[in-house]
Amino acid sequence: MSDTKPTTFIIFGASGDLTRRKLIPALFNSYRKDRLPEQFNIVGFARRPWDDEKLRQVLQEGMQELAPEEYVADQWDSFAQKISYVKGDLTTQEDYESLRQHLLKIEAGPGNRLYYLATSPSFFVTIVESLGKANMVAEKDGWRRVVVEKPFGHDLASAKSLNNAIQAVFAEEQIYRIDHYLGKETAQNILYFRFANTIFEPVWNRNYVDNVQITVTESVDVGHRAGYYDDAGVVRDMFQNHLMQLLSLVAMEPPASFEADAVRNEKAKLFHAIRPLDLDQTVRGQYKGYLQAEGVAEGSQTPTYAAMSLFIDNWRWQGVPFYMRSGKALAIKNTEIIVEFKQPPHLMFEGIQDEDFSSNILSMCIQPDEGIHLKFEAKTPDSHKTQPVDMEFHYRSSFKGNSLPDAYERLLLDAVKGDASLFTRADSIEAAWALMDPVINCWEEDKTAPPMITYPRGSWGPTEADELLARTGRVWRHACSHPEEG
Ligand code: BG6
Repeated sequence: MSDTKPTTFIIFGASGDLTRRKLIPALFNSYRKDRLPEQFNIVGFARRPWDDEKLRQVLQEGMQELAPEEYVADQWDSFAQKISYVKGDLTTQEDYESLRQHLLKIEAGPGNRLYYLATSPSFFVTIVESLGKANMVAEKDGWRRVVVEKPFGHDLASAKSLNNAIQAVFAEEQIYRIDHYLGKETAQNILYFRFANTIFEPVWNRNYVDNVQITVTESVDVGHRAGYYDDAGVVRDMFQNHLMQLLSLVAMEPPASFEADAVRNEKAKLFHAIRPLDLDQTVRGQYKGYLQAEGVAEGSQTPTYAAMSLFIDNWRWQGVPFYMRSGKALAIKNTEIIVEFKQPPHLMFEGIQDEDFSSNILSMCIQPDEGIHLKFEAKTPDSHKTQPVDMEFHYRSSFKGNSLPDAYERLLLDAVKGDASLFTRADSIEAAWALMDPVINCWEEDKTAPPMITYPRGSWGPTEADELLARTGRVWRHACSHPEEG
């Protein structure tokens, strides 16, 4: 890293799950790969009566349990020496002064600071304002940046007021709103696929594309997160952020450069071109047994599944439906983007009708079988018929020596480098909320439109989602291979 100043990662909510599961494994892996600044420190801030040793022990156990193949004992020991703990209450201003003193002590000179908000969102504003009051935001001795975890707001109004509150203390260039889907290698590859090649972009439009489908299914249920989830539901939890971000990568215009604002301007333009959603084109569902999960309110109407279609009013996409679906407790975990192409305008093959013919399908497999599939028609040998065949690219075979880093690894390093292109800007977050708010409001206020469908665990969700496509003669596609399918 070119910046030689010491860099300190300050994690608010250091005793929580995110720190153990994601942040520390990401920092440790970057350390092992020699990608962290030469001089760095990690400071955990939380309320529990812990000390440096206790925090190190908890994080070490987390590494051993959650990422055993990445845990290397002697490297861990030297890494752990950089970790320290400040016991403090997020709502007590004096505790930020103790934190400031601690930082001055360990930094031993001018340094950079990355504040990571890994707490419940209800503390985001308090932390940011307290940092401001404690004079910990000014950039005279090094940069100061803040990483804000999701959920970013609960609706458009709260997202706006959160943006305003953070921007009252930090400049937009200092704010890094995280969406871990953007840190996934395969999500980043969407722009490379489209714009580092010449053969796909000419057909990437309404003249050739029949429809686009974004599927993010999860086999897990809400588990222990009902306290958060029951208040959020699938649209806030997955659509407003992850699915909308995937949509922007597939549909945006090419930016002139890969610089953060060039990319984010194109995304914002795209979001603003999306037509307000037609509520008749939405489906909501709840898996059987959700109401019995601990922490779920009696008779809860929180959707754990949603499907919807939308249109983008611009030259490239006019008239092309984009379908999105996501849910929990479904048959498989699979994140996949399908681009389905139009049928050939004229079939001259003897004995072959339109209905014998499959359309060309490009499938971007984001996870778990990371890769790309292209399905096209081939002549069946010794016959006049055709059959769809598959051209496949898999990361695991094409990049044998390169493991796919966790999204947090990439995003944390980008924040240190000052590269915000994989972080969400205020305008896009608000635009995505503006699209989702009417759906959420309608579902919450008018409990009949559309009806809540209960779907069995381990299924593909409500069959009404199939009807959503069937209305125009289309079907959900699935082309990625999946370990459970053999
Ligand atoms: C999180 C949601 O943002 O993304 C979770 O809060 C969801 O409910 C998770 O399970 C999915 O992430 P991934 O990386 O496992 O697809």
